[in-house]
Amino acid sequence: MTFVHPSFGQIDDSRTIIFDTTLRDGEQSPGFSMNLEEKLRMAEALADLGVDVIEAGFPVASKGDFESVSEIARIVRGAVVCALARSGGRNDIQVAGEAIAHAERGRIHNFISTSPLHMKYKLRMEPETVLEIITEGNKAARNLTDDVEWSAEDGSRTEPDFLCRCVEAAIKAGATTINIPDTVGYATPEDMEKIFAMLKARVPGADSVIFSAHNHNDLGLGVANTLASLRGGARQIECTINGIGERAGNAALEEIVMAIRTRNDQYPYTNRIVTEKLLRLSRMLATITGFDVQPNKAIVGRNAFAHESGIHQDGILKNAATYEIMTPESVGWSKTSLVMGKHSGRAAFRDKLVALGYGEMADDRLNDAFARFKDLADRKKVVYDEDIVALVDDEARDHARIRFHGLEVSSGSKRPAEATLEIEVDGEMIEASATGNGPVDAAFHAIRSAFPHDARLALYSVGAVTEGTDAQARTTVRLEEDGRLVDGQGADADTVVSAVRAYLHALNKLLVKRTRAEPEALEA
Ligand code: KIV
Ligand code: ZN
Repeated sequence: MTFVHPSFGQIDDSRTIIFDTTLRDGEQSPGFSMNLEEKLRMAEALADLGVDVIEAGFPVASKGDFESVSEIARIVRGAVVCALARSGGRNDIQVAGEAIAHAERGRIHNFISTSPLHMKYKLRMEPETVLEIITEGNKAARNLTDDVEWSAEDGSRTEPDFLCRCVEAAIKAGATTINIPDTVGYATPEDMEKIFAMLKARVPGADSVIFSAHNHNDLGLGVANTLASLRGGARQIECTINGIGERAGNAALEEIVMAIRTRNDQYPYTNRIVTEKLLRLSRMLATITGFDVQPNKAIVGRNAFAHESGIHQDGILKNAATYEIMTPESVGWSKTSLVMGKHSGRAAFRDKLVALGYGEMADDRLNDAFARFKDLADRKKVVYDEDIVALVDDEARDHARIRFHGLEVSSGSKRPAEATLEIEVDGEMIEASATGNGPVDAAFHAIRSAFPHDARLALYSVGAVTEGTDAQARTTVRLEEDGRLVDGQGADADTVVSAVRAYLHALNKLLVKRTRAEPEALEA
């Protein structure tokens, strides 16, 4: 059976559409916010990975969200750019339409809750009113684009008869994709397979749309529920890189894609993902957000292909298939990630940045990044791709009101640690010294003394970018001020410098937030 889709044309029944919502459902989880430049970089890398649809944000939620969706729509090519909107929101659909106006192919994704619990307590609406809103929302969206998705929020806990009526109304009003989310991660694989099979069998017009799965991971079943949804007839998969998303996250893109590829005997579906780029996307997201995946995370975790036990190592040496169900190379792990050293020149460095997905950089940015690379190569024996990514991302954060210039620290077991910090604030050099309970504490006190502020330190976490004692430290600092949370990241071969860079990054973000009006709280 084939189907003609407004954005993808004729598609075969075995083809799955990969819908990535890292920049929307993923980005809205605490600590994962990204700035415009970071979102653009992720969006371009997602298109390059081969995702079919990029959900770029929720334009009515804030000015920043609107700007990032419209910028992604203007720049990204090769993937549909999608904007989220409430079906019954005051201006949502209009604003979403404006945000995707310049997309090569644009989609409006509208949603409203359909479960008894959500309708009664959250929406305070009668089911008949919800049905009217579904019709109005999809008609309004369809006036702005031919590619319209509708979601039944809390769909997996919706009464089957009512769900059928809602889906029928959405299709009649022009929706071309119907998404049934397991919003709260409550469903089992059996539930999800049954829901899609039921909708396909019962709803008039079901043959003319694509059904979509969107599974949250509260019970750790996000990927299993997605694979079961495919069995039930869903052909669009909503997922995120590293499985980030609300609460326990969304189903992880890399896990679903590799499950389908590795067990194609059970899941005979196709997609356009270039699996060799999966690790790169995972790393890019971790670097941007400052949150590494756990070492045992499937596909992209540091230990996913590490064999520690002697018996396993022996088996691998004789035949890798004894303990490896897919090759590390097939998801982007390479045996030789050693890249450059202190003798590498500026041209080689520029080529490397292009290969790592940064594109051609302006000369001043390239020069700053190259100077830091040289400094790192002097201090560190081997420089890996991950080091360069951490360094360039860190450099990109440095163009702000408060800039780091230098730090000297003395610490040890005999006396309190002392830090002397040099920063530039709005062009003026400031030096401050402070003591503390350890070098990081002393350095953070020095920041407070150089730039007094009331924000509270809510999180401080450090990880190593690569292996070895000369590895760069990557630090995340979270600051809280008047209920606002901001995360900052820093990287440096010196752990305390990395921490100071992360703190200043967070402080700079806070200054930007202070000058922006807060978006009004959204009610669904
Ligand atoms: O989880 C959910 O229900 C959602 C919808 C907005 C699609 O993210
Ligand atoms: Zn969701």
